[in-house]
Formats: sequence, structure tokens, C-alpha cells
Amino acid sequence: MRPGMQARTLDVHQARGKRMMTATSNSRAIRGQPSHAMVGAMLEAAGLPAADVSEEHLRNFFYAPYEGSALGLVGLELYGHEALLRSLVVTQRERGKGLGLALVHHAESYAASRGVRSMYLLTLTAEPFFKRLGYARIDRSQAPSSIKRTSEFASLCPESSAFMVKTLYPSG
Ligand SMILES: CC(C)(COP(=O)(O)OP(=O)(O)OC[C@H]1O[C@@H](n2cnc3c(N)ncnc32)[C@H](O)[C@@H]1OP(=O)(O)O)[C@@H](O)C(=O)NCCC(=O)NCCS
Repeated sequence: MRPGMQARTLDVHQARGKRMMTATSNSRAIRGQPSHAMVGAMLEAAGLPAADVSEEHLRNFFYAPYEGSALGLVGLELYGHEALLRSLVVTQRERGKGLGLALVHHAESYAASRGVRSMYLLTLTAEPFFKRLGYARIDRSQAPSSIKRTSEFASLCPESSAFMVKTLYPSG
């Protein structure tokens, strides 16, 4: 088993102690590689960029399954020691129950297992959420070239988006 594979399944209850999700036990797992249709529909519903998501991207996307659909998802673009965390979304009804937190933790753990040391992201509306998770806002000029080349950075996310970074440490 590849390092980090064990991180593909995570009980979201671990993320929030007693504040459990109300959905069935199916929703407790976070799985890899959602379908293109599922990702497109969820991102569009949340007003997040979907146009550039390719089949290749989906290899590093994760979702919380529920009855053939998903309660939430998150994506990563991996560039060696750097990565872009993107496409974090939780369906309206499931917000505030710890799933967003669980998805970010899952993405961070997976990224760290793949050698990522610096996780970057852009967000218009969730800066306080990410700040609580240890992300710090930095100037866009500080972005490494790998991140500057991403579609999200280069064109899809508005200039007014907060650009944030967090240092990841190898687990274990
Ligand atoms: C941001 C988002 C993923 C959070 O998902 P969630 O499942 O509601 O988050 P959680 O339940 O894990 O929240 C953890 C904590 O962060 C807080 N929080 C959630 N969203 C927040 C936000 N936008 N701003 C500030 N705090 C937020 C929660 O209130 C909770 O705090 P608590 O522990 O004191 O109760 C969800 O609101 C969402 O899908 N937003 C729309 C898409 C988006 O903005 N994505 C980010 C761009 S990449």
C-alpha cells in the first residue's frame, strides 16, 4: 500500500468529536476519485470554478459519498513540494457539522504523504474558516511559479480572492 492510502478513509466524527453528521453511515467515509459529473454539479451549485477540472485532476479529488451522490468534496493539484487545495464544498444541508474540516484534514494528510510541504489556496468567502485551520494570507506575488501557472490562480479566481498558505509536516 502506498504511503497515505490509509488516509483515504477517514471517519468525519474524528474531526469534530460529538458533533456528528446526521446522514447515514455511508457519509462517514471519504473516498477518492469522484465522477466528473458529480464534481461539476457540486462546484457549479456552489459558484466555484469547474471549467478547468479534467479527468487527470479527479485523481486527487476526494468526496464524502451519500446515496450515489456526495455531501462534500475537495480537490488537490500536486506540484512536488507544493500543492493547491481547491474545490472545497459541502452541500448546504450538511454545513456546520464538521465535514468541511474533515475534508481539509483528509486533503492535508494525503498531500503530506505525497511529499507536499506548502499547501496554497484561493478563497473568496472562506478566509476565516481556513485561518482557523492554520492558513495564513499572503500576497499573490509570493506564489511559487507552479501555483501561478494553475488556472485557478491565473484566471478563474477573482483578484479579490484571499491567497493563503500553510506549511505541512510529514506525518509519523
Ligand atoms: C467552507 C465550507 C466548505 C465549510 O464547510 P462546513 O462543513 O460547513 O465546515 P465545518 O462544519 O467543518 O466548520 C468548521 C468550523 O468552521 C466554521 N466555518 C464554516 N464555514 C465558515 C466560513 N465560511 N467562515 C468562517 N467560519 C466558517 C464553522 O462554523 C465551524 O465552526 P465551529 O467549530 O465553531 O462550529 C462550506 O461553508 C462551503 O461549502 N462553502 C461554499 C464553498 C466555499 O466557499 N469553499 C471554499 C473555497 S475553496
